[in-house]
Amino acid sequence: MRVLICGGDGYLGWPTAMDFAAKGHEVMVVDNYLRRTIARATRSEALMESPNLDDRAELFRATTNHQVEVRIGDCADPTFINPIFSSFLPDAVIHYAEQPSAPYSMRGFQEARLTFENNLGVTFALIWAMLQFKPDCHMVKLGTMGEYGTPNIDIEEGWIDIEHKGRREKFLFPRQAGSLYHTTKVLDTDLLWFYVRTYGLRVTDLMQGPVYGLSTDEADLDDRLLPNFHYDDIFGTVVNRFLVQAVAGVPLTVYGKGGQTRGYLNLRDTLQCVYLAATNPAKPKELRIFNQFTEQFTVNQLAERVTRAGKEVGLDVAVQPIANPRKEMEEHYYNASHSGLIELGLKPHPMTDDVLVAMLNRVIANKANIDTRKIMPRVRWN
Ligand SMILES: NC(=O)c1ccc[n+]([C@@H]2O[C@H](COP(=O)([O-])OP(=O)(O)OC[C@H]3O[C@@H](n4cnc5c(N)ncnc54)[C@H](O)[C@@H]3O)[C@@H](O)[C@H]2O)c1
Repeated sequence: MRVLICGGDGYLGWPTAMDFAAKGHEVMVVDNYLRRTIARATRSEALMESPNLDDRAELFRATTNHQVEVRIGDCADPTFINPIFSSFLPDAVIHYAEQPSAPYSMRGFQEARLTFENNLGVTFALIWAMLQFKPDCHMVKLGTMGEYGTPNIDIEEGWIDIEHKGRREKFLFPRQAGSLYHTTKVLDTDLLWFYVRTYGLRVTDLMQGPVYGLSTDEADLDDRLLPNFHYDDIFGTVVNRFLVQAVAGVPLTVYGKGGQTRGYLNLRDTLQCVYLAATNPAKPKELRIFNQFTEQFTVNQLAERVTRAGKEVGLDVAVQPIANPRKEMEEHYYNASHSGLIELGLKPHPMTDDVLVAMLNRVIANKANIDTRKIMPRVRWN
């Protein structure tokens, strides 16, 4: 397959690019370094400095003999993305290219506008590039479980059958997100559904939970091939943050009561899910939605697991609940189905103590880079 990966410099994009290339596909990555720009502007740089995309691709080629083509530019700009589509003619486009930080999107007007315009702008430009140059291309789009929020009913896999006054119809499952970033993902889904049902595009929308991990088959070959690893309050996801806090001797920052439940997955499982989706494409006129996570945990359960793993490597980990900077339920019902990707062949890598210990050891090796000023939440929802 010819696979175009938008957002290929990112935490998920770069390991995905290496995974597809190692499996023999023709891979092109595009990115405009938005994440690096925002990280510098907000003092949220990653734990280890990553080489730029050209250098990473060259190192990957020298190490594995596999090729990743690189293009630098804005995927929301049709003058940049259209020529890429018309010449590369991708069979699949993996759409990661969004501003993914909820706290950043809640920081103020400029940050909210950037998130809104960038995220919807990329989705819209990619839809139109597909329509004009490769209408049978399959888009694999990264959404988030956060689109659904935390409703007091079971969360279905994207769609729900509703019976109303004796008649039935299938609708998108209700979505009520908790940040502007998550709301842009809801709007993306609606936009995609419009173009799928009206123009016959084929799209898989992956409602992904927070991802943790650093290790993949290719990233393990050389430290410079590792994905960006953020532990700050802007870009860091909760497990990655807790592991760095444990190593830095900072009490784990549980927000409020810590009963917030979400579905999580290992980076290796993100790679599997995206690969399974791309190699088993949606049909034309189909918006296929999978809930992409493997295990559900509360924040308190994550803190307990990191504490236990910390003990194994000699760390004395403390937990200190802090005032919740977000507006969210801290105790709630949560039960989300997630069978679609398992049926396609996903073999989950659970969050074992061994997995957490291996991550702790990587963080310990880079302990000197930890800047504890990046740890406490700097953005409040009001
Ligand atoms: N990491 C997670 O836990 C997680 C969970 C759920 C959903 N997601 C979604 O998965 C996708 C990838 O997440 P990530 O953690 O790798 O984020 P990331 O910020 O590391 O990667 C996104 C990449 O897209 C690039 N980008 C953004 N806008 C662009 C544009 N206009 N043109 C070109 N490149 C652009 C950024 O520079 C960045 O390299 C995002 O859409 C995110 O919302 C991530």
